[in-house]
Amino acid sequence: MQLLYQGKAKQILATQDPHTIIVRFTDTVTAGNGKKRATIPGKGALAAHISMRLFELLSTQNIPTHYIRQLDQQSFLAHKVQIIPLEVVVRHYATGSITKRLGIPKGRAFQPPLVEFFYKSDELGDPPLCEAHIYALGLATPHELAQIVSLAQRAAALLSDYVAQRDLKLVDMKFEFGRTAAGALLLADEISPDTMRLWDARTDESLDKDVFREDKGDLLRAYQEVARRLNLTLPLSYLTRSLSASGEGQGEVEGTGEVGTGEVGL
Ligand code: C5P
Repeated sequence: MQLLYQGKAKQILATQDPHTIIVRFTDTVTAGNGKKRATIPGKGALAAHISMRLFELLSTQNIPTHYIRQLDQQSFLAHKVQIIPLEVVVRHYATGSITKRLGIPKGRAFQPPLVEFFYKSDELGDPPLCEAHIYALGLATPHELAQIVSLAQRAAALLSDYVAQRDLKLVDMKFEFGRTAAGALLLADEISPDTMRLWDARTDESLDKDVFREDKGDLLRAYQEVARRLNLTLPLSYLTRSLSASGEGQGEVEGTGEVGTGEVGL
C-alpha cells in the first residue's frame, strides 16, 4: 500500500479508491515538536480505538467527520481530505501552553469554552493565530471559519458530556479540519489522548499524553484506563500489557534530536 504521508504518530496510506485513505496509528509518541520521542508497543491500537469510538459518537450527532470504518486494530478507513493547516484548540480548563503564554492559573474553568487557533507548521513551531492571520494566510474564508468554530464547539461539548459520564474531565483538545475534493468540510485527523487532555474527574490525574510530556508515569496504563472507561472492545492483550514488566517504563526512548525532514506533523 502506498504511503502518502509519514506523520509523527500516524501514517496515511492510499487505497484503490482515490477518495479514501487509510489512517494507521503507530506506537510512536512524540512531544515538544518531535524533540522527545519513544516507541510504546500497544499505544497505536489504543489511540486508534479511542479515536474510532469518538468519531463514531460525533457522526451520530451530525458532525461531519472523515472517519468511515475500522480496518484493523491500528487503522481506519477515512474520506480523503486536504488538511487545512490550522489547529483549532478548545479549552474547558486552563493548562498547558495557555498557562505559560497568558499566566492563567492551571485548572481555571473557561465558560464558555475558549477557542484558539494555531498555525500547523513544524518549522514555525505552531504559532498562535488570530482570525485576521487566518485570512491573511488564506487558510479559510470567513464563512468556512465560522463553520469550523461552530463544529469545534459542538464536538467539544458532545465529547465533554460523553467522557463526563465515564468519570473523565475533558480539559482541552485539538481539532483539525479538511476539505474533500467535492468541497465538503470534515473534522479530520484523530481524537485521542494524544490530541486531548483527559483528567480523572475525582483526582485530576492526567490520563493523556501529558504523562509522557511531563514524565508522570506509564503512558500505556493511562491510555488503557481511558479505553476501559469507554468500554472499548480491544483484544485483552492491549488492555493488560504492562510495559513496566519489561523494565522499559516509558518505552524505548529513541533520542532527543529534531524530527527528520520529510515528516509531516499529522
Ligand atoms: O500545548 P497546548 O496546551 O496548547 O495544547 C492544547 C491541546 O491541544 C492539548 O490537548 C494538546 O494535546 C493538543 N495539541 C495537539 N497537537 C499540537 C498542539 C496541541 O494535539 N501540535
